[in-house]
Amino acid sequence: MSRFIVVSNRLPVTLKREKDRFELKPSVGGLATALSSVVPREKAFWVGWPGVPAEDLSRYEEWLTAELQALGCYPVCLSREELDKFYYGFSNRTLWPLCHYFLQYAIFDETLWEGYLRVNQKYAQVVAELAEEEAVIWVHDYQLFLLPGLLRERLPRASIGFFLHIPFPSYEIFRVLPWRREILEGLLGADLIGFHTYDYARHFFSSLRRILGYEHQFGLVLTEERAVKVDAFPISIDYARFARAPEDPAVRRNLERFQEEIGDRRLILSVDRLDYTKGIPQRLRAFEAFLERYPEWREKVLLILIGVPSRTEVEHYQELKREVEELVGRINGRFGTLSWMPVHYLARGLGFEELAALYFLADVALVTPLRDGMNLIAKEYVATVPEDRGVLILSEMAGAAAELSEAILVNPFSQEDMIRALYEALRLPRDEKIIRNRRMKERLRRYDIKRWVKEFINTLNEVKQTQESFASFRLTGEERQKMLSRWEEARSPILFLDYDGTLVGFTGRPEKAAPDQELKDLLERLAGVARVVIISGRDPETLSRWFGDLPVALVAEHGVFVYQGEGWHRMVEPEQEWKEAVRPVLELYADRTPGAFIEEKAHSLVWHYRLAESELGALRAHELKEALLDLVPPLGLMVLEGKKVLEVKPREIHKGMVARWFLEKGEYDFILAMGDDWTDEFLFEALPPESFTVKIGYGLTRARYRLENFREARRLLEEMWRRKSR
Ligand code: G6P
Repeated sequence: MSRFIVVSNRLPVTLKREKDRFELKPSVGGLATALSSVVPREKAFWVGWPGVPAEDLSRYEEWLTAELQALGCYPVCLSREELDKFYYGFSNRTLWPLCHYFLQYAIFDETLWEGYLRVNQKYAQVVAELAEEEAVIWVHDYQLFLLPGLLRERLPRASIGFFLHIPFPSYEIFRVLPWRREILEGLLGADLIGFHTYDYARHFFSSLRRILGYEHQFGLVLTEERAVKVDAFPISIDYARFARAPEDPAVRRNLERFQEEIGDRRLILSVDRLDYTKGIPQRLRAFEAFLERYPEWREKVLLILIGVPSRTEVEHYQELKREVEELVGRINGRFGTLSWMPVHYLARGLGFEELAALYFLADVALVTPLRDGMNLIAKEYVATVPEDRGVLILSEMAGAAAELSEAILVNPFSQEDMIRALYEALRLPRDEKIIRNRRMKERLRRYDIKRWVKEFINTLNEVKQTQESFASFRLTGEERQKMLSRWEEARSPILFLDYDGTLVGFTGRPEKAAPDQELKDLLERLAGVARVVIISGRDPETLSRWFGDLPVALVAEHGVFVYQGEGWHRMVEPEQEWKEAVRPVLELYADRTPGAFIEEKAHSLVWHYRLAESELGALRAHELKEALLDLVPPLGLMVLEGKKVLEVKPREIHKGMVARWFLEKGEYDFILAMGDDWTDEFLFEALPPESFTVKIGYGLTRARYRLENFREARRLLEEMWRRKSR
């Protein structure tokens, strides 16, 4: 087994300064523990920031590194300045608010971005030193969006997974980010990208399509380089640890102590990092309004509010802290009595033994973030609380709501919703609680953190296999050598070359895809050693303009016209009536799709949608195809689906037909065909079995071989020419 490297912003340890020394405590539970059940200890490595600025470590750095390495941890040491830009800056002042829909808090500052990039490079450096060529690397969260791409450059063969622990926002939000491209490209360095919910995955697909132009098929994104899998993996908790917590003697002691203080009041529990995304002020105001509306509940309930300090150097966090303190003071001042304080506020984190005791005792958990990637507090509470006691009030805006649908779900922006939920929760019948809790507990028990880790790792392995199944066709190694030696021996070879997507990349404007000089030189040289046929769907005028001066044959409109040095020859007689039946349908769909347009060719009508908004374009193309499928067969026509085009044309005209015509006219002892889309499949199919047919890019194909992109295609042609010219 190769090395398994987890990379996250923080290492799974807490480092505390005790006067003149540091105390190091490994984190228990969570990912670190789950991982140890899947990956053998000696193979598992963890790379991350130890949690203290490098300046504060100074003479302890060596000691710390040694201590950490004993735990399998490799520190990325960051200076105060790096932390300011990377962590407090771009991660927590730009990405965090943006991904949580707090656009008004997000700042866009080039120097923060540069700091983020540099620190991501630093992580890449530490990982690359640890990783072997085939290592499995699992990168976590928004602080390291660029890392998969940076690692891919250094370790092309590694298995790289990425998991995002926060929401991926809607395209309308994400598009605001000035570095949106770089972030998406960075992520696509991974083989597998995981989100908590399918909604986040959907948002990601939409950004990929609109910003980079990549489509996906069943969650598989086909980039020019690789197939990348995207899917939802809702993170979970160490269920057994929480479910069994009440048996732990330390938890029991706390239970008894807390129970005494709470007495027979009903306990409402709220636990969060002090973060503006958590909706703590809204929660407090709802509680205040609840006490106001239902005086009968005064003195009978107690809200324990745990606010764990977080990112205290960021101004919005400081403001929040003040606001929460004020609200707590106001509510206690307003409703409190000598024997009852409605809100107990603790501004610190609690250890497992205290927290589990509170989960166990709480009649209601009030988990109402404004936006939250998942929210594990909700899951921990459900796992711990006795089934006949607890009621979970959960925000719709938390990823967890997708799984915990038996909770009382609320819109945290609606105070009415929250007051109603509190009232309902406190009066929910015992039987109803049991039914709801059992279902949720069962689900969490089955899909716990270990299962989550396993599923992610298994899927990562599967993606690698999928990629290999594509790669097995690749025209590399021995197969390539075999082909090249057949080519060298050939006395009269012929090459059928598609143009767009095969010899040049795909551009937004079809008329901009003119051949560059390098390509023209290459074609000219090849034409000296083989019969070269450029076989394209384009019109004769364009092809003449681009290639008329080269000694190559040209095929236009998929085989309607052929040019062999002197004038275009028409292969089929025009028969145009069908156009009048089909055109109105295409027009109707073009009118309904801004950016779509119709191109008329001698023997076909083409509906282009590459300039249309991508999702709308894809949807309309689908509808149009459905509409045409009924209409065209009786007219002897077919619908061809190319890249961002639908083309309607007579069934007998296609690239295969014209290729056969060339083969009948001459004696060839070597046949090569290259193409990238659907229309080239007719070509591949029509050629004799011993031909070398090559598909450019991913996708299903009848071709024997595959090359990744037009650059690889050119490289092969270049090499062919060199072999012949020796
Ligand atoms: C969220 C993020 C984590 C982060 C945690 C605590 O859950 O997704 O990446 O570690 O908050 O935030 P902090 O900034 O203290 O690491």
